[in-house]
Amino acid sequence: MKNEKMIQALNDQVNKEFFSAYLYLAMQAYFSSLNLDGFANYFRVQVQEERDHALGFFNYLTRIGGKATLAGIKEPQNEFSSPQEIFELALKHEQFITQSISDLMDISREIKDHKTEIFLQWYISEQVEEEENMGRVLNKLKLIKGDGAGLFMIDSELAQRLYVPAVIPGAV
Ligand code: FEO
Repeated sequence: MKNEKMIQALNDQVNKEFFSAYLYLAMQAYFSSLNLDGFANYFRVQVQEERDHALGFFNYLTRIGGKATLAGIKEPQNEFSSPQEIFELALKHEQFITQSISDLMDISREIKDHKTEIFLQWYISEQVEEEENMGRVLNKLKLIKGDGAGLFMIDSELAQRLYVPAVIPGAV
């Protein structure tokens, strides 16, 4: 079943996920400019994950016979005042994405589009992790209150983050 409201909403989500990648790329650039390579690595991995999320929606759209229509990606914030500000923004952005995916789920239920509802379940679970990850780093940054030694400890920890390609059921 093709429902134009659902197709449009899925298309919008492709754009939102690519915007997420763009926003996090700007955050990566900020940390690279400060030589905080662990933080930069954290966002490098995050960018790759967001690309996977976007392509997941794109591939699903194609599979259900809905044409993906690519819109322009808006300019992200490029100037930041501190690592804490970045993680506050990143957490807020993830909460926005969670709401957006919940709205998609509401549409799929409203129109009884069960296959899209099942497809979206992966993303609903993923958003728990996305908010948790940003929130955990934010809490650590609040604890150290700008202390340099603490910042370098967090930087070393974030340098360990590895990219694992997402396997999204229904999107391959
Ligand atoms: Fe694609 Fe960070 O949610």
